[in-house]
Amino acid sequence: MAATDTFVPTEYEWLLLRFNADQAARASEIEQQARARASARAPLKVLDLGAGAGANLLYLAPRLPATDQAWVLVDRDAALVERVRTCFDRMSAKVAAAVADDLVSFGDQRVTYQARTGDFLAATDPIWEQPWDLVVANAVFDMLSREQVDAFFALAAERWAGRRPTLYFTINLDHQLRFIPAHPDDDQVRAMFHGHMRRQQYYGRALGPDSAEAVTDLARVHGFTVTSGSSPWRIPADAGAMLHANLDFIERAADEMITDGADGIDRDPFARWLSARRESIERAELSLEVGHRDLLIEWP
Ligand SMILES: C[S@@+](CC[C@H](N)C(=O)[O-])C[C@H]1O[C@@H](n2cnc3c(N)ncnc32)[C@H](O)[C@@H]1O
Repeated sequence: MAATDTFVPTEYEWLLLRFNADQAARASEIEQQARARASARAPLKVLDLGAGAGANLLYLAPRLPATDQAWVLVDRDAALVERVRTCFDRMSAKVAAAVADDLVSFGDQRVTYQARTGDFLAATDPIWEQPWDLVVANAVFDMLSREQVDAFFALAAERWAGRRPTLYFTINLDHQLRFIPAHPDDDQVRAMFHGHMRRQQYYGRALGPDSAEAVTDLARVHGFTVTSGSSPWRIPADAGAMLHANLDFIERAADEMITDGADGIDRDPFARWLSARRESIERAELSLEVGHRDLLIEWP
């Protein structure tokens, strides 16, 4: 497939780019319940799983009622963890924050943070021995397999039963991927893209678009109660960089599927679909909806 000269973000740039879409998408009724559950303990201890470059803290910390918060950010990608401070500096004006080495202030709210590299699925990780009031994760569970999410809830039920933190997991993918206006090949492209997310990897099959449903089911199997709300991205026609980035992901998925000899993906129709969609973005005539669900997971 032809290389494109469109904007191809690095992982870090992608996390910054998606910030606005995630922010606008969050299910407000679930966020309100999460806020209500986040007690005024001082400091409020918050764990951010798969924190990336720290976007979840920038969004959520100023919306929580506690004026004194202590966050731990864990991600297995050391390159992203190293850029948390850079991300905070770069985004500080946007979120009205003052940033220092291990402290972010939003007005009179003081949020200390520690960012470190780690695998939150490892039973030996220190997060499993520490007390938390709130455990959050944004856009993380679609990358995991059903077996990994099952193991995560088994650990949570066992190790966090003392303090019983509320779990607030946002932007979990579901099956919706809707281009507006529609094109006759959209369904085939969606099936290919979702098939790529679910492909067999060294740790199993990632949940991809099944993550919202699977995380809900598995949390319930382990005795938790789950309240959920829809949190779709509605990416408007004037958000060119975000639309192009989504098409770039789809193109890379198709390249891999074709290279791997997957059935049912024809190179030429796909290339025509892609170039038609890119031209529509240039004319600001294409918008996109990507379905997600936000989950509030609580102890019985
Ligand atoms: C789509 S990014 C979201 C990052 C961040 N939460 C945000 O909203 O910008 C998903 C992140 O989850 C991390 N991740 C996935 N599985 C993980 C694991 N088992 N332990 C630690 N981090 C993990 C990835 O490295 C990646 O940075």
